Amino acid sequence: MKVAVVQTNPEFGEVAANLDAVERQLKQSEGDVDVFVLPELFQTGYLFLSKQELRAVAEPVDASPTLDRLHDLAKQHNAAIAAGFAEASADGVYNSSVLMGPRGVLSIYRKIHLFHEEKLYFQPGDRPFEVVEFRGARMGLMICFDWRFPESTRSLALLGADIILHPSNLVLPWCPAAMITRAQENNLYTATANRWGVEDRGGKKHRYIGQSQIVGPRGDLLVRAGEEEDAILSAEIDLEFARNKQVGPHNNLWEDRREEFYVRASDSP
Ligand code: ACM
Repeated sequence: MKVAVVQTNPEFGEVAANLDAVERQLKQSEGDVDVFVLPELFQTGYLFLSKQELRAVAEPVDASPTLDRLHDLAKQHNAAIAAGFAEASADGVYNSSVLMGPRGVLSIYRKIHLFHEEKLYFQPGDRPFEVVEFRGARMGLMICFDWRFPESTRSLALLGADIILHPSNLVLPWCPAAMITRAQENNLYTATANRWGVEDRGGKKHRYIGQSQIVGPRGDLLVRAGEEEDAILSAEIDLEFARNKQVGPHNNLWEDRREEFYVRASDSP
């Protein structure tokens, strides 16, 4: 199983051009990739200034030109594609990611931990984390700032994920290092696809930090892109390695957990 992270620099609001750019980037891949991971909101850009502006580019899952285009690309490359998109629904717009396979949608995840001004425009995710199987690998989606909550990766790990697909638009500098710990503490792979570049709109400015990366179960950094470049980087995923939670002869990451001593926020004084 081969996974690739695709690092892009989308133009705000230029949906067709951003999809074209991804199509060109995927053509540069070596041809045997099983899963591509694209950034969060890769087709619209990130820095929205109003709900109206977001609504205008959001797409419902059952009538989405972006998902149709991703489906075409998935068939063309005989691969799955994880990608962020603005999901229109009756109750608002979700910051979502799809896992699209050659035969159609495998999973949709609605970002649970909204970052910063996303809270003004997006609905918080309303469904639990999910793990789905593709070509024998168990995959879970989370989005960008979910990294800041270790419960996100732990939930996906406890659901049996071998690899976490992590579309992102990172602005804070700490995530690449944190994801090394997330991979190691759960003994699984993580694939973070970030964007790069600057968005400067309406007096607001974000610089995205690039550094898309794939990390292995021992916290080994397998590939990492630069801070300011388009990139497509891949790594082999060893499912047995991710599934073996044994740490030496006496410890097992799952069997040694002591849930009876762990604290829920509702238990704390
Ligand atoms: C982020 O969650 N886009 C930082």
